[in-house]
Parts: sequence; C-alpha cells; structure tokens
Amino acid sequence: MELIVSIRQMQYYAEQQRYAGRRIAVVPTMGYFHEGHLSLIRQARQLADVVITTLFVNPTQFLPGEDYERYPRDLERDRRLAEEAGSDVLFAPTVQEMYPAGYTTRVTVLGVSEKFEGVFRPGHFQGVATVVTKLFLATKPHVALFGQKDWQQTLVVRQLVRDLNFDVEIVVVPTVREADGLAMSSRNIYLLPEQRQKATVLYRALQRARELVLQGQRRRQVLVQAMAEELHSVPEIQLDYAAAADAFTLDEPEEFAGGQQIALLVAARLGQIRLIDNEVVQVPPTGAERA
Ligand code: PAJ
Repeated sequence: MELIVSIRQMQYYAEQQRYAGRRIAVVPTMGYFHEGHLSLIRQARQLADVVITTLFVNPTQFLPGEDYERYPRDLERDRRLAEEAGSDVLFAPTVQEMYPAGYTTRVTVLGVSEKFEGVFRPGHFQGVATVVTKLFLATKPHVALFGQKDWQQTLVVRQLVRDLNFDVEIVVVPTVREADGLAMSSRNIYLLPEQRQKATVLYRALQRARELVLQGQRRRQVLVQAMAEELHSVPEIQLDYAAAADAFTLDEPEEFAGGQQIALLVAARLGQIRLIDNEVVQVPPTGAERA
C-alpha cells in the first residue's frame, strides 16, 4: 500500500488512475481504525478498482474545548490495518498541507446540518463539509463510502454532493457494533470499564423505539419518551438529545406516515465522553396504505 502525504501527488495519482479507466473509491476517516472503518474499506474494495483511504484528524470540525489534541492517533497500526482490509493508498496529509497559512475558505451546508449534532456542536458540520470537499478534490473518487453510525453526517455529505454537483456516488455502510450492541467508535477507548458497560443503554434505547415503530407506533413523542426513559435509567448519562425524525429531511412531524423511513437519533455524555448512535426504521404501512 502506498502512503501519500501531498495533495498534488494525490491528485496526480488519481488522475493517472482515471486516465487508465479505473474506478476510484474513497473512504474518508480520522484514523485509529476499528471494524467500522475496516468494513468501509472492505466494501470499497468490492465497488472499485482503486481504494483510497484518507486519514486526517480534521481540526476544523472540532469545537474549542473538544478532544482534537487528545484524539487517538496511531499511523503505523492504521497503515497495517488499511492495507490488510484492501486499501491501495493511504492519503495522510498534515494540517499544514490541508490548511496552509492564509487558508480562509469554508463550505457551509444549511438545512440538514442545523439540527441535532448541529445544535450541540455548532460549526462541526461546516468543518466536515469543508474537509470532505477538499478530500474529494484531492482524491477524485467515483464513489465515496460513509458509515451509518454518523447518519446526519451522511445527509450533510449527500446535500453537499447534490448542491455542488460533485460527480461522486455516496454509499452508506451499516453500523458495526460490539457484541453487546455498542456502536464501534475510536472514542470508545476513553470509556472506563464501568462506563463501557453503561454505554450500551444508547443501543437499548434505540431498540426499544424501533420495536415500538415495528409494532405500529407512529406518534413521535411516544418514541422520543421511550428512548429518553431508557436513557435516564442510567443516572450517569447526560442526555443531549433523543429524537425521531424523517430519515432524509430530519423533519419532526407529530405523527409519521406508513412507509416513511424514520431515523431514531441519540446523543449523550458519560463523564467526559460523548456518544452518538442511531437506527433507521420504516413505519410498517397498513394494508390500505400499501394499496
Ligand atoms: P471517523 O469518525 O474516523 O469515521 C470515518 C468513517 O467511518 C465515517 O464515515 C463514519 O461514519 C464511519 N464509522 C465510524 N464508526 C463506524 C461504525 N461503528 N460502523 C460503521 N461505520 C463507522 O466521520 C469522520 O471520521 C469524519 O467526520 C470525516 C468524514 C472523515 C471527515 O473528517
């Protein structure tokens, strides 16, 4: 596997691959790989001739006071894991390379970025949209893969691609979980053993609401309350939000319609660690609605 650190070199490599008629997949990441990242790389391997994994801990998507400095990093381990999962290139630019002195451009996606994570992490999605734009321009992909783990991020990226006419297909890969349901995350290593056990409450809350939807419950407040109740069963949990929204617009109607895709979204803090998770579930249509 090749390691590329300069944007110019990355563009040259991508241009050569395109000229040779090869299909390029990109997997944008911030590194410290776990099975979630690796499943994206493996899926990319199935979809393209050339797989580029990007590794960049993007400072512009962290708010002041967040964990940018102590975000876990291990280039040598990531290099080995990305290669084993089938990546051809690891693109790992420095901050200086991505945001040199005098850099001033930001990309702002309105709408889907303004709720949920956008409220609790103002500016976060602007950082994401900016870096994803730069990563697409550096790697010139035909297809880009993102995890369902960050559902709202996938909506922001889809909106970005639509609005700026990026000729890139977006593929969303299911969330990879630990055996007890906890969604894998690079930040899980920060959890102390007793916090680690309590963190599974996010998954339980989502499953409870999901069951209600599948049993025919369509009232948003009932779903939200069920999730909040489950989350509050762990006193150490500080809830940022528990929400049920249209999976694609993030609208929050009083009542969902048969056949509608709902995103159940939760974010909570356990001590210093912030956890997010989601499930997407379809409201079962009644016989009459199906007809
Ligand atoms: P990062 O958190 O490193 O995640 C990289 C990709 O892996 C994202 O698309 C994320 O949704 C996916 N991912 C994370 N955990 C996952 C899991 N348990 N199952 C499946 N996929 C999972 O998301 C980012 O980085 C950044 O915001 C980035 C898009 C790279 C822009 O900087």
